[in-house]
Amino acid sequence: MNVITTVKDFRQTRAGFDRVGFVPTMGYLHEGHLSLMRQARRECGTAAVSIFVNPTQFAPHEDFTRYPRDLERDLRLLAVEGVELVFVPEVGEMYPEGFGTAVVLPAADEVLEGAARPDHFSGVATVVCKLLNIVQPTRAYFGQKDAQQTVVVRQMVRDLNMPTQIVVAPTVREADGLAMSSRNSYLTPKQRAAAQILYRALTAAQELLASGERHGDGLRQAMSEVLADEPLARPEYVSVADPLTLRELAEVGPRGALISLAVRVGVVRLIDNLLIDA
Ligand code: PAF
Repeated sequence: MNVITTVKDFRQTRAGFDRVGFVPTMGYLHEGHLSLMRQARRECGTAAVSIFVNPTQFAPHEDFTRYPRDLERDLRLLAVEGVELVFVPEVGEMYPEGFGTAVVLPAADEVLEGAARPDHFSGVATVVCKLLNIVQPTRAYFGQKDAQQTVVVRQMVRDLNMPTQIVVAPTVREADGLAMSSRNSYLTPKQRAAAQILYRALTAAQELLASGERHGDGLRQAMSEVLADEPLARPEYVSVADPLTLRELAEVGPRGALISLAVRVGVVRLIDNLLIDA
């Protein structure tokens, strides 16, 4: 396994490989990440992974400094998976003095996570753009859990004519339905038990939709009612949106819907979604 910290060394080592499947991460790896790496390796022959907690996608009041980090454990997991290339840059390597460019998708800040976290997606798009330029992967793999991130990355790649194919894999869940996330490690045992309410709310809307309810308001109301059952949960938003534009739907149409929510359990902010076909 090649563990590399500089862009120059990464480019040199990468040149020895042909097709590369790339999984960008912020580390503190879980089964969701590992399943993306297995898919990358299976489909491209070689897997590359980056571990970089990207400061530009965190607002000043967010959890950049306390975001969970355990590089030793991550590297052990990557070695077990047989990942060939690991890129672990310092902040100064990615954003050296004088760095002054940003990739901005203004529409992303108008809806869902973008509306709740202004500038977050500019930080994501900028770092993913840099990583794709450095790694030059054949395919890059993202989890459906960060639904808006996948929409933003796909649009950036399309708009900027980047040659990498973007692959989105299903969300990996715990036995009770909680979507795997590095941030789950912040939850106390009581909060962890309460956090299963997110998936219960999503599946309630999914079932209602399957039974014929097409009105966005009816589906959003169903999610809010389930969330109200859990005293530790403080919903930030519930959404039934068009899967491409991410605009709220009055009525679910032929494109289906992205049903999503953001909920605080204690101080921990959790997000999840289900993508529903028409
Ligand atoms: O999903 C994440 O972990 C991050 O947003 C990503 C894609 C690695 C960019 O920092």
